[in-house]
Amino acid sequence: MLSLPIPVEKFTSRLLKWYGANKRDLPWREKTDSYKVWVSEIMLQQTQVQTALPYYHRFLETYPTLEALANAEESEVLSTWSGLGYYRRARNLHKAALIVSEEFDGQFPRKYREAIQLPGIGRYTAGAILSIAYGEPLPILDGNVARFFSRYLCIQDEAGTRGASRLWNLLTQLVEEPSVSDHIGDFNQALMEIGSLVCVPQRPRCHICPLKASCTARSAGLQDTLPKRQPQRKVEQFHYTVALLPKGDTYLLTQNWEDTFLQGFWEFPRIRGRPTRQVVSNFRKRHGLKLKVEGQTTAVNHRVTFRKLTFHPLLVTLCSPAPRSKFTWTKPGEKGYPISSYVMKILKSLG
Ligand code: ADE
Repeated sequence: MLSLPIPVEKFTSRLLKWYGANKRDLPWREKTDSYKVWVSEIMLQQTQVQTALPYYHRFLETYPTLEALANAEESEVLSTWSGLGYYRRARNLHKAALIVSEEFDGQFPRKYREAIQLPGIGRYTAGAILSIAYGEPLPILDGNVARFFSRYLCIQDEAGTRGASRLWNLLTQLVEEPSVSDHIGDFNQALMEIGSLVCVPQRPRCHICPLKASCTARSAGLQDTLPKRQPQRKVEQFHYTVALLPKGDTYLLTQNWEDTFLQGFWEFPRIRGRPTRQVVSNFRKRHGLKLKVEGQTTAVNHRVTFRKLTFHPLLVTLCSPAPRSKFTWTKPGEKGYPISSYVMKILKSLG
């Protein structure tokens, strides 16, 4: 069983004092509002705070309340999310907003067993929202918190399930302690904050850490080698040929219903493979387009988690009109036509 090297009250008071003096001024921390906390936590699941901030502001300007989000069309929500990636988060957030609006009177549910049923809400996110917005004594464990504790308690397990379940157990015990539960929202955010500002992945900034005197990894000189790295998932490479058909400031786009990857998004007509003769011939058949290849522009790379995507754009002209049922001429980025940021990347590469 894991335990803290110093009394929990001491641990908590050092942590909270540091947090009070050093926390970042983040918009969802201004006034506790469960909708704002919810949006921020969904964005921060896969995105760093600094990257998420402009998207957070744009999202809140577009959907200032849960009702505004629930009343929006999914395609608009995806457009507003555009650029942040991991679009399943936006789809789930929108679905969950509808449920909260209809079944919970527009208020994010306070009970853990209700929150965890909502689309896109797992153990971590439910704990984060309920502790920060409502002060519910629930633990949270994200990558930052896990890294901090793996050093503070000198956990030698490989980062992964065993270490994580031991940490969840420790945190579940900690949040029962009055010194923690009385300040649970700040306690949880302080752990995340120390992980992202002090106990950083490379070269932890121990000299400014309020808990350095009791850090077990530091006293063993292991702060730079813990946590042990998880074996990295192999990056897979995919090649796609895309057709660029400009008309004024619009391009011919089609909505992708065939691939699970980027489903529902508007894209340049695309097919798997490099632009060989065979692939171009398959392209014509697949999209039902009579086209002539006029040239090729520089390939564009785009990374999505463990996938490396290389897009090979072809400049083409049409020999007969594109079927209206499948295609539209749209200015990429137009409201209601959600696109992936790779589309903009290709346009930028054209100069
Ligand atoms: N990462 C996820 N949620 C966070 C929060 N509320 N504060 C700081 N970092 C976070």
